[in-house]
Amino acid sequence: MHRVIGKRVVELSAAEFAALRERHTAVLLDVGTGDGKHVLHVARERPDLLVVGLDANADALRKTSAKAAARADRGGLPNVVFLRAAAERLPDGLSDVAEVHVLMPWGSLLRGMLGEGPVLEAISAVCRPGAPFLVTLNLHAWRPPVPEVGELPEPDPASARTALAERYAAAGWRLTEAEYLDDAGIAALATSWTKRLGSSRARFDVLALRGTVG
Ligand SMILES: C[S@@+](CC[C@H](N)C(=O)[O-])C[C@H]1O[C@@H](n2cnc3c(N)ncnc32)[C@H](O)[C@@H]1O
Repeated sequence: MHRVIGKRVVELSAAEFAALRERHTAVLLDVGTGDGKHVLHVARERPDLLVVGLDANADALRKTSAKAAARADRGGLPNVVFLRAAAERLPDGLSDVAEVHVLMPWGSLLRGMLGEGPVLEAISAVCRPGAPFLVTLNLHAWRPPVPEVGELPEPDPASARTALAERYAAAGWRLTEAEYLDDAGIAALATSWTKRLGSSRARFDVLALRGTVG
């Protein structure tokens, strides 16, 4: 797998990843991590977890991944790994994921998280059965609709629990909860995109989906 450390992308073998995993109680995977701020936040809160941030684009990860790889006395976080990979083709050796987050997806990741293409199956294949998930959708992707949302109308909590849950079920995911996030809920995600989008809009609507994978 391709590990991102600052400007470098280095090979991390499946055995090296397994050794890292063994030093922690479980793995939390953040797919489409962007600049990885959410990963740092979770890793600080849960030092027992190995927190893996994955994105197809490594450029935005430079600063955060360098910070995480620093010595612990300089603010480094030994329980963080950043990987460059597409959600459609997750790295060999990534397995036994105990919790998944996909926050504010766009592009092919958004399409995948709406049940189109191989993304839900690909994530499911690396998860423990019953792993909890948190997906947050930026509803402004429907206002007006971007091409990635296809024919799916803007979801609300009720339609997410029916129409979207059906798409998720086809990939073996159980979507059981859907709710709009209030400002405190959005801030608690500690992601850069929620901050950026929130500051550019008077009202910022995010739908959170929860349930289990597999
Ligand atoms: C709007 S950003 C959100 C980043 C972060 N989750 C946040 O909330 O700040 C969407 C991210 O999804 C990533 N992405 C889009 N399609 C992807 C794919 N197929 N596989 C992996 N990452 C993808 C993009 O590179 C981008 O970093």
